[in-house]
Amino acid sequence: MSEPQRKILVSAALPYANGPIHIGHLVEYIQTDIWVRFQRLIGHHCIYVCASDAHGTAIMLRADSENIDPEVLVANVSESQQRDFADFLVNFDVFHSTHSTENRELVEAIFSRLDEQGFIARRTITQAYDPEQHMFLPDRYVTGTCPSCKTPDQYGDNCDNCSATYDPLDLIDPISSVSGAPPIAKESEHLFFTLPAFENALKKLLLKNADKNPLYTKLQEWFKEGLKDWDISRDAPYFGFRIPGTKDKYFYVWMDAPIGYMAAFLKYCREHDLDFDEYWKPGSDAFVYHFIGKDIIYFHSLFWPAVLMGSGYRTPSQIFAHGHLTLNKRKMSKSKGELINARTYLNHLDPEALRYYFFAKLGPGIDDLDFSPDDFVARVNADLVNKFVNIASRCAGFITRNFDGRLAGALHDRELFDEFGAAGAEIATAYEERRFAEAARTIMELADRANQYIDSHKPWKLIKDSSQQTEAHLVCSQGLNLFRTLLVYLKPVLPALAEQAEQFLNCKITDWSDCTTALLDHQINPYKPLKSRIDVKQVNAMLDEERAAAVPADGLKANAGDGNCITIDEFKKIDLRVALITKAEAVDGADKLLRLTLDTGDQTRTVFAGIKSSYAPADLTGKLTVMVANLEPRKMRFGVSEGMVLAASDGAGVFILSPDTGATPGLRVT
Ligand code: MSP
Ligand code: ZN
Repeated sequence: MSEPQRKILVSAALPYANGPIHIGHLVEYIQTDIWVRFQRLIGHHCIYVCASDAHGTAIMLRADSENIDPEVLVANVSESQQRDFADFLVNFDVFHSTHSTENRELVEAIFSRLDEQGFIARRTITQAYDPEQHMFLPDRYVTGTCPSCKTPDQYGDNCDNCSATYDPLDLIDPISSVSGAPPIAKESEHLFFTLPAFENALKKLLLKNADKNPLYTKLQEWFKEGLKDWDISRDAPYFGFRIPGTKDKYFYVWMDAPIGYMAAFLKYCREHDLDFDEYWKPGSDAFVYHFIGKDIIYFHSLFWPAVLMGSGYRTPSQIFAHGHLTLNKRKMSKSKGELINARTYLNHLDPEALRYYFFAKLGPGIDDLDFSPDDFVARVNADLVNKFVNIASRCAGFITRNFDGRLAGALHDRELFDEFGAAGAEIATAYEERRFAEAARTIMELADRANQYIDSHKPWKLIKDSSQQTEAHLVCSQGLNLFRTLLVYLKPVLPALAEQAEQFLNCKITDWSDCTTALLDHQINPYKPLKSRIDVKQVNAMLDEERAAAVPADGLKANAGDGNCITIDEFKKIDLRVALITKAEAVDGADKLLRLTLDTGDQTRTVFAGIKSSYAPADLTGKLTVMVANLEPRKMRFGVSEGMVLAASDGAGVFILSPDTGATPGLRVT
């Protein structure tokens, strides 16, 4: 390494702890992981931190619907996300949680410093409030008709159709998506962070290197629009940290989330005897980089540095934002099954194939990147298998069989080997600047040249000629040395393959500069295949699994026309009736079931329904619902179930169906 060792702290955005991660998220965690592994290989000291983003309304409601404490939900989700990360070889030094003692400690200290410095304002505002659930509603939890273009079913912050932005209470006929009731306007005092006080400091910090900063234009636009005070408080009920000095106000999730980076690092420092302040004090000589997606740039490049400045910390060295992953050029959609969960991918494919694919596609900017099955399969097979691994598999057998597994004592083409090594500087710069696609291109050009070298010397012919044995030995040894140099370049991308190849080459790669040293008169181990081709069938099987798991509402659409349709006459056989729930009770010995007594107009029926996780019995009595009245009675351990109540489920919550107002028990549903 020519430059002095740098101390680097790197973070990837903290994933929300309310569901599994998909391959879109992985763009970021893999990009960051590759960059961190590169930094270490080049000799820098680099710590990679992450954590669960645990707080907020979404997590609170999801935990409510599952009838568990939010802490339990967060712990479960975090565990399964960490399994996914580990299986994709994403190697965090620490994976913590924003709901942690370290984070509370830091959040409270930062808040009190901001308050002391006069950066916290208090004023009363009016917001949408759910009168049934007794809670203030985040904008996204209010839906209604757009006041500008009159498109129905729009969220409370802006209109998907005409892009108008508005207040949730400006919607026509607004509805709370928590209870279904129309929200009312209610006042409450909130705490604000005075972002405009930092306008000049932020401009000075951010508006430099216009040509090198892909965020420059966006930032300039934001400054032109003007900065506004930022509401950092939320009223109870809210899952988060209570704001000191208030009775029932909580820090908004986005206030404590970036502080979670520091909290994860603090935990690491305490466990590894590292000096936290050395990294975070103003003027620190350490580097702090945040990798994030393009959707959260505002939080990271405006709020976050301002909060740090206001509370006496250093600011990040740089924010690295990337674009979003699309699937066949479309935004990924959970409800349509057009999304690939990390675990579903792992059920069918090699994690390093995806790591390489992202590496080959990522640039330093915020352009979106696309996953398309054919392109993915073609790229991985062409580059990794046909070009790169092929070099080793063409040479290894001869060395093992004909030369006792020992490499030749000299290089056959020193010049070519040195050229491969010299490319290391250019490739390292591309890595450093996150021009991964360019690095991949340069590496693959070299791989092409290594294959051409082997093609032109034809060791498989030389080996058959007893007078050409030395030549054959030299050519195959040269091939393996060229392979090893490329292995240095790809080690940050393919850590598992690298480990296997190091075993085969009987030599560990410990530093980037290994790209310039040849293995001469060196014993290697027998070659085992390093990577096999992937097949588009594996990708299709993965996509099928995902579609099959998509929420049922869209299952109907997905099935239409593919032979699974039913005729209208078949549908009419189902006797659907409006039913009144007259009684609902827990069932002894059954965790999930409620016993419902239903009035169907002319009869009383008993039905067992697996809805206990989402409904308290008392909330159900008096509700109208829809039941299948002609379902064959089913004998259960607890009694006979005489029908079935219709409910929708997304795996997280269960939602029973109810008819519109005016319906009466016994009405036939057609
Ligand atoms: N919890 C916040 C981040 C807080 S950081 C202090 C959050 N979480 S997230 O789970 O929604 O997203 C985590 C990261 O994944 C974000 O950087 C986000 O941009 C990124 N991605 C989510 N979907 C993505 C794609 N489809 N493609 C690429 N990145 C994606 O935001
Ligand atoms: Zn509109």
